[in-house]
Amino acid sequence: MHNILIIGANRGLGLEFAKQYSDENHNVFATTRNKSESKALDAISKIKVFELDLNSDESLDNFVQQISSQKIDILIHNAGIFRDEQLDEDLDIDAWMNELRINAVIPIILARKLKSNLQMGLSKKIVFISSQMGSIDDNYSGRFYFYRSSKSALNSAAKSLSIDWKEDGISILILHPGWVKTDMGGDNAKLEIPDSISQMIKVINDLNLTNSGSFVNYAGEKLEW
Ligand SMILES: NC(=O)c1ccc[n+]([C@@H]2O[C@H](COP(=O)([O-])OP(=O)(O)OC[C@H]3O[C@@H](n4cnc5c(N)ncnc54)[C@H](OP(=O)(O)O)[C@@H]3O)[C@@H](O)[C@H]2O)c1
Repeated sequence: MHNILIIGANRGLGLEFAKQYSDENHNVFATTRNKSESKALDAISKIKVFELDLNSDESLDNFVQQISSQKIDILIHNAGIFRDEQLDEDLDIDAWMNELRINAVIPIILARKLKSNLQMGLSKKIVFISSQMGSIDDNYSGRFYFYRSSKSALNSAAKSLSIDWKEDGISILILHPGWVKTDMGGDNAKLEIPDSISQMIKVINDLNLTNSGSFVNYAGEKLEW
């Protein structure tokens, strides 16, 4: 039984991570921006729900303080945003900076703030939910400046973390969930949510210090950077 912290767990992939890990009898710690609007989390057994808004430094500090005495075996940073910006009309600087903050900067800052919790844990794993759209090698269709650049930045920083924290025994995975039918992925996506999550859990089980720093998809297949 592990203690598993899921950042951004009130809907989509994060909610299903919480459900499946709870079904496997793990202790789940889940974050949401608003507890009173996250009824789906209350229905899950063995779960503790925290409020966290990644846009707010105060919320980050409060959350880190509330969870400070808790050991964490697996940290899954799932929360992310996607804005379908248009090159000619909508390259809004503040919106781009915000996407970089939520998708790339905060995941690393929060991991840093939770390092002592991970050091108390046994398996010491961090999973960053990234995207194949962050792959520069795999970009054949252009567009999506905000999202692509933010996930590329996440991949780059997470890779550094995997090298810097290897001696601390912390292993790090950069994981693409596939194109999944969530609010973000839309109805045309190829994968159902439970299918993506059950496969990702297997990949997370296989994470260790030897394969730390890998960029892989839900099936464990290596992706180009
Ligand atoms: N679905 C796909 O096809 C796909 C493909 C590749 C990668 N991904 C990645 O997978 C992850 C989960 O995506 P999803 O499809 O489940 O998306 P989703 O349904 O849009 O859910 C996004 C989650 O992130 C949370 N979040 C966003 N901004 C936040 C903030 N400022 N503070 C706290 N929480 C925040 C949301 O909370 P609220 O409800 O409060 O907004 C929600 O829980 C993301 O990192 C995404 O980039 C998804």
